[in-house]
Amino acid sequence: MKGVLLSGGTGSRLRPITHTGPKQLVPVANKPVLEYAIEDFKTAGITEIGVILGHKGREEIQELLGDGSDYDVDITYIVQGNPLGLAHAAGCAKDFVGDDDFVMYLGDNILKEGITDLVESFESGDYEAGIALQEVDNPQQFGIADLDDDGNVTQLIEKPDDPPTNFALIGMYVFSPKVFDAIETLEPSWRGELEITDAIQTLLEDGNAIDSHVVEGWWKDTGKPEDILHANHLVLEDLEKSVEGTIEEGAEVSGRIELPESSTIEAGAVIRGPVSIAENTTIESDTYVGPYTSIGADCVVANTHIENSVVIGESDITTSGKIVDSLIGRGAQIGSADELLPEGRRLVVGENSNLKL
Ligand code: TTP
Repeated sequence: MKGVLLSGGTGSRLRPITHTGPKQLVPVANKPVLEYAIEDFKTAGITEIGVILGHKGREEIQELLGDGSDYDVDITYIVQGNPLGLAHAAGCAKDFVGDDDFVMYLGDNILKEGITDLVESFESGDYEAGIALQEVDNPQQFGIADLDDDGNVTQLIEKPDDPPTNFALIGMYVFSPKVFDAIETLEPSWRGELEITDAIQTLLEDGNAIDSHVVEGWWKDTGKPEDILHANHLVLEDLEKSVEGTIEEGAEVSGRIELPESSTIEAGAVIRGPVSIAENTTIESDTYVGPYTSIGADCVVANTHIENSVVIGESDITTSGKIVDSLIGRGAQIGSADELLPEGRRLVVGENSNLKL
């Protein structure tokens, strides 16, 4: 079994954060989204991974993952270029995959339970594809699978008016190499993309067995700013306490926090976990960092109230305003305006911005 990790795409829904970098490198709990996928592959015993690259952020992704040896996996890079659809991206991996089966993982997705059960379910039968499903409340807005009593997929329907089930397709699939024949027959959809659901539908119509696996734990597509915040919240729910840095006397810290050796919480600061703080960051006095906040590397946070937010890194935040539910891009500087605003501010701040609140 091999892994194909889709890291191309446009990332338009995450602008301005993605103006300069790929969305798969946006950190969730101070770890790039892409690393969660690499870890899931490894846990499932998949160490040969093909990473699909688009135009944006190719160098940054290769710089982070390298040849995979830091993660004990073997990475091959495959350039897709223009994002012509998920099935097109999968098709680019044909030579890499060869005669093996493969898991296709969307690089901006995080799945609490990982992919081991999905892989085992696929391997337990004679299937040409396996799809991960999750029950949703609003099936009209998703691609929905209809299943027989054994959990075999009988039909896929895109955004049905009258959904036969609540089982929505999430961005995790297993395929045999037969999928490449199906992809070759596809025509672009109304939105101009080669759709992976059309490839699965073709496999179904050709009489192939398609497995399904219902995911119980949470699953998050981090395509939009609010999704990053939600994913950050979900991951921090399970944060394990790890304090190697300095907590000065007179600082007030409660709950689970992560503080690496090079970071400091100064006297007079108040931290309520779960909170993740990355390297070389200082939380100065008169600062409140509230639950479900991740502060990236090389930041200074002073005189500020911040909660339920993600600060990507290299920022100075010294506003007396209150920052809540915010995503702050790398290098953004946030200072104080003359007039104080008592209520919290919700922000999505692009890289290297300069604000006064
Ligand atoms: P999407 O989020 O569907 O697409 P996108 O990245 O273009 O984002 P947006 O809609 O905000 O512009 O893509 C899901 C994942 O698959 C993501 O990690 C990017 C990747 N992808 C590719 O690698 N190649 C492709 O052709 C497409 C469409 C997506």
